[in-house]
Amino acid sequence: MWVLRVCWVLLGTLGAGSAQLFFKSVPFVEIDSCNGAVVILPCVVTNLKYNQSSSMFVTWLFQGKRFFIFDGVTDNITRNSSFQTATFQNRSMLPFGIASLVVSTKEALLGNYTCEVTESNREGETRFELRNSSACLNHSSESVPWFQPAERFSIISTIILSVALYWCQFITVAIKFDMTLEKKIGLSVTGFLISIFALTGTILFAQGGYTASAKAGIGIIVVPAVIAVPLLYFLFTSVFEKQPLFAVILLALKALGYVIAVAGFALCVTACHPKHGSVVIAGLAFIDAVAAIGLIYIIIIIGSKLKDHQPPRKAVEESLNDAKGVMLE
Ligand SMILES: *[C@@H]1O[C@H](CO)[C@@H](O)[C@H](O)[C@H]1NC(C)=O
Ligand SMILES: *[C@@H]1O[C@H](CO)[C@@H](O)[C@H](O)[C@H]1NC(C)=O
Ligand SMILES: *[C@@H]1O[C@H](CO)[C@@H](O)[C@H](O)[C@H]1NC(C)=O
Ligand SMILES: *[C@@H]1O[C@H](CO)[C@@H](O)[C@H](O)[C@H]1NC(C)=O
Ligand SMILES: *[C@@H]1O[C@H](CO)[C@@H](O)[C@H](O)[C@H]1NC(C)=O
Ligand SMILES: *[C@@H]1O[C@H](CO)[C@@H](O)[C@H](O)[C@H]1NC(C)=O
Ligand SMILES: *[C@@H]1O[C@H](CO)[C@@H](O)[C@H](O)[C@H]1NC(C)=O
Repeated sequence: MWVLRVCWVLLGTLGAGSAQLFFKSVPFVEIDSCNGAVVILPCVVTNLKYNQSSSMFVTWLFQGKRFFIFDGVTDNITRNSSFQTATFQNRSMLPFGIASLVVSTKEALLGNYTCEVTESNREGETRFELRNSSACLNHSSESVPWFQPAERFSIISTIILSVALYWCQFITVAIKFDMTLEKKIGLSVTGFLISIFALTGTILFAQGGYTASAKAGIGIIVVPAVIAVPLLYFLFTSVFEKQPLFAVILLALKALGYVIAVAGFALCVTACHPKHGSVVIAGLAFIDAVAAIGLIYIIIIIGSKLKDHQPPRKAVEESLNDAKGVMLE
């Protein structure tokens, strides 16, 4: 039997490769958390002649042991019990050379797979290694992050900036406007809360990989950002007796930024290689921009109030005079 085989192979090499089946070359397949419930084991023949599965015979081997045999004559599939879920990716594409298998991720053992295809008197095989992905699964690594480094840097910067801006707003309002002690305490506690959320989220997220903790991290960064909307409102209530239109617009824009950030988060959290990292960044940056405008607005209001009631220069001169007096004495 093997003599015949050798003859065919020899004939194949001599006679324009007519007895040899060729395959799309896939040296290895990486399995990672992006694969989901199933893994595709690729096997694609490129030079079939008859294009009918009844003249085909397909054998799949794992580490040299058969686990899946398709006999085209009887249209019968035999599986090893440890590969119960193995099935053709698309049975109707088999006559066109697609002998790829779909296997549940649990059954897809790591190792070397061989796919042997025979069509009438021609045959060939392809081999690849199924291995753990270096990306996404690498928990400890900086080099294979979930987000691009630039995206990660942007997300972390925007969240730090938003916390910093909140404290600037709060301190400015607390110093320059009347605020009850209760309100001061309430706003400080909330400020500490968002700072802690941001810090925790950043620490978890900064670890990089597509891990549960990194996902929780970005969730803790994005979801509590909603607190910033009512916070800005409460700050404004100390500045204005009645909210002017501009303040209302700022609040609405801040809420819009939040919606964008959460939408981006939802798009990214399900993807190992997120394409929508920019949406999260845009949303957070939007929140920051609104916060910065809000801060400038509060400062302008303070400036105009000072002009109305008490010229600031005079106040400065007086205090300078006081200081001189102290120094002369
Ligand atoms: C498929 O093969 C198994 C044994 O390998 C046999 O018991 C079964 O009857 C076959 N089925 C068909 C449809 O030929
Ligand atoms: C199934 O495959 C495993 C590992 O490849 C092997 O140890 C086992 O003997 C096979 N079982 C059958 C029924 O062929
Ligand atoms: C199999 O492939 C054919 C042709 O590409 C397609 O029409 C069909 O929907 C596929 N079937 C499955 C189950 O994917
Ligand atoms: C048979 O399938 C191959 C793909 O493997 C394709 O290139 C070829 O055109 C097909 N031939 C016919 C007659 O459909
Ligand atoms: C698969 O085959 C390659 C090359 O033949 C070898 O280096 C590798 O160790 C094999 N993998 C396993 C899991 O046996
Ligand atoms: C592959 O990755 C999984 C999940 O991280 C791990 O449990 C398993 O031990 C790894 N296997 C090998 C052979 O490295
Ligand atoms: C994970 O990343 C570390 C550091 O970059 C590297 O040394 C290690 O080989 C990686 N692990 C895998 C499975 O790629």
